Amino acid sequence: MMSLNHPLMINNITRSDLDELISYLSKPNPRLTQGSNVKAFEKEWSEWLGVKYSVFVNSGSSANLITLAVLEKLYGKGEIIVPPLTWVSDIAACIHNGFDPVFADINPRNLCLDTANTIGQINSRTRAVFITHAQGFNGLTDRLLTELSERNIPLIEDVCEAHGATFKGRRLGSFGLMSNFSFYYAHHLSTIEGGMVCTNNEEIYEMLRMFRSHGLVREVTNSQVQEEYSKDNSSLNSEFIFAFPAYNVRNTELGAIIGMNQLKRLDIDNEKRIQNNLVFLKCLDGERFRKEYELEGSCNYAFNLVLREPDLKLRDRLEDAMRESKIEFRRGSAGGGNQMRQPYLSSVVAEGAWEQFPEVEHIHHYGWYVGNYPDLGSQSIVELCNILNNA
Ligand SMILES: Cc1ncc(COP(=O)(O)O)c(C=O)c1O
Repeated sequence: MMSLNHPLMINNITRSDLDELISYLSKPNPRLTQGSNVKAFEKEWSEWLGVKYSVFVNSGSSANLITLAVLEKLYGKGEIIVPPLTWVSDIAACIHNGFDPVFADINPRNLCLDTANTIGQINSRTRAVFITHAQGFNGLTDRLLTELSERNIPLIEDVCEAHGATFKGRRLGSFGLMSNFSFYYAHHLSTIEGGMVCTNNEEIYEMLRMFRSHGLVREVTNSQVQEEYSKDNSSLNSEFIFAFPAYNVRNTELGAIIGMNQLKRLDIDNEKRIQNNLVFLKCLDGERFRKEYELEGSCNYAFNLVLREPDLKLRDRLEDAMRESKIEFRRGSAGGGNQMRQPYLSSVVAEGAWEQFPEVEHIHHYGWYVGNYPDLGSQSIVELCNILNNA
């Protein structure tokens, strides 16, 4: 058996990123905690994404957490519609903020919340739809956006797996009331660990800044808002007014420096990922694997491998072949499959309820992702497909 040695991600922090860091660290007394570089990265990220405001945090999970903390303050408790195919932190953030997660099945052509299923779950207690643009696919549709805007239900976008993907030419993450990104190593852009919350809403931006830093009012950029808090709390030192019982989820100057250097090449790298995915889908055996994906606007940091039919024997053969060839894989896609089956939800989801979600169940049992990174040449993709097609 040929050994490919194909990890999930490789070279995501380059020599050029490290050289930027070294040059910064060589300066006299470089500041390391959140400062002007964080501010500059937030500005560049906002411009790249097409939003007014961004708040740099220490992970995508932290982005999820403070996003829903702000949502709860503005909209109150209730239900949030989430996909069962997402990362644990999307659903944990609902629970931590007192929301009830409500599930809707996915669309097999893009692995994101299915529009009709999602609309079918909306009721008077729905406080938001928290979509995950899974595996680089766009999950937005005109019908979903129109329905949510007519019913005044906020859309929150988790774009942790889809940096640079678009809907109708506009970047994902610029549609929702708030959007979340992760800059963990395995993603399109990495700051080692890191994340971003983005919004066009000034009030939300100020709240996010406070939630990132202990609830501190001095984090607010609008001096009028600061003065109002000081007036309403005249017995307090204005440097130490804590508006919310919040968190410390700040990132550092070092993360921001890597992020800004990576942003310079993100679009170029993404174009290579898009081309890689086309080669992958062309070479993959369509009798064995699904190939009918909605590719318009997608930007996949991973190759999606989904059996056309349930077949446990083929699944085992395929996994054995990938292990033997040193092809790293994740069954159940990025988050380990159907979240509804996880023990952390045992008091929320009734035993067996996951079986009513056949599309995500199929991915849970017969879906994987393998790495797609810019450096991958066409020849390696052909070899990868040969192994997958012949296992
Ligand atoms: C969809 C999604 N949301 C949130 C996260 C959390 O990001 P992080 O690992 O940076 O905490 C991830 C991480 O992989 C993810 O895939």
